[in-house]
Amino acid sequence: MKRVRKCVFPVAGMGSRFLPATKASPKEMMPIVDKPLIQYAVEEAVAAGITDMIFITGRNKRTIEDHFDKAYEVEAELAARGKLDLLELVQSIVPKHINCIYIRQPEALGLGHAVLCAEPVVNDEPFAVILADDLIDGAPPVLQQMAQVYEQRQCSVLGVEEVPREHTRQYGIVQTDGGEPGVVSAIVEKPQPQDAPSTLAVVGRYILSPRIFHHLAKVQAGAGGEIQLTDGIAALLREDKVLAYRFKGMRYDCGSKLGYLQAMVAYGKKHPEVGAAFAAYLKSL
Ligand code: UTP
Repeated sequence: MKRVRKCVFPVAGMGSRFLPATKASPKEMMPIVDKPLIQYAVEEAVAAGITDMIFITGRNKRTIEDHFDKAYEVEAELAARGKLDLLELVQSIVPKHINCIYIRQPEALGLGHAVLCAEPVVNDEPFAVILADDLIDGAPPVLQQMAQVYEQRQCSVLGVEEVPREHTRQYGIVQTDGGEPGVVSAIVEKPQPQDAPSTLAVVGRYILSPRIFHHLAKVQAGAGGEIQLTDGIAALLREDKVLAYRFKGMRYDCGSKLGYLQAMVAYGKKHPEVGAAFAAYLKSL
């Protein structure tokens, strides 16, 4: 039986919807309260038993590498000042058994291309993909839910949720046989509401068979001149079973300003240090 040990984090996008904040620093380093989005994503992967974190990076992404690396100056300073709780916090960002691997995507040619860049490291193994800007508050964490489905069914699994029909043009939309999880019979990238085969949208969680690389290598640039992961999955499901799994959890689209603010409020209200005061403040408004 195969298990998922590797997770790909595509973080090479432009983040244009958050300019100017993303002019010189990556969208994935934007914090929700006190933790960057990419750290939530890595923690979710760790909870799912992943040991190899593969980041697909681009220009202006150095801070992501620094975030998961040892920070000698900060640690020495905290130790010298006796701030041992903060020292432990900084040192525990990545557990010791985790490997962080960085691959550069030379040009932002699309999500499908970013995933294809991971092939030399993933090789012939099933692997997960997390889009850090889809922050999902789930118990158990969503990738762990999906890894359990993978272990039972041994085929690709897409994380999906219902969206309002008028939003289908923002997502890959699947058609399934109606099962739970459903077997995917079709997937379409960003369909107009009247053309969408359903309102079941793929959000930023995937477990994929390595066979996807074979298909991605053949995909031509599609919508927006980008190589779409959806097109690779469409080819994959013609030869392999792909499941759509409705995860249990609340998703925040932190790639959009509104979703980001909603996440900040939700996570702010339950933050152990400031949650109660923040909730009281919101109530007083
Ligand atoms: P998005 O569609 O959210 O694009 O990419 P973006 O560039 O990050 O943001 P906007 O739309 O310009 O505001 C989805 C995910 O795929 C990654 C992004 O980093 C994001 O996590 N991505 C996208 C890449 O790694 N490479 C690409 O070529 C495109």
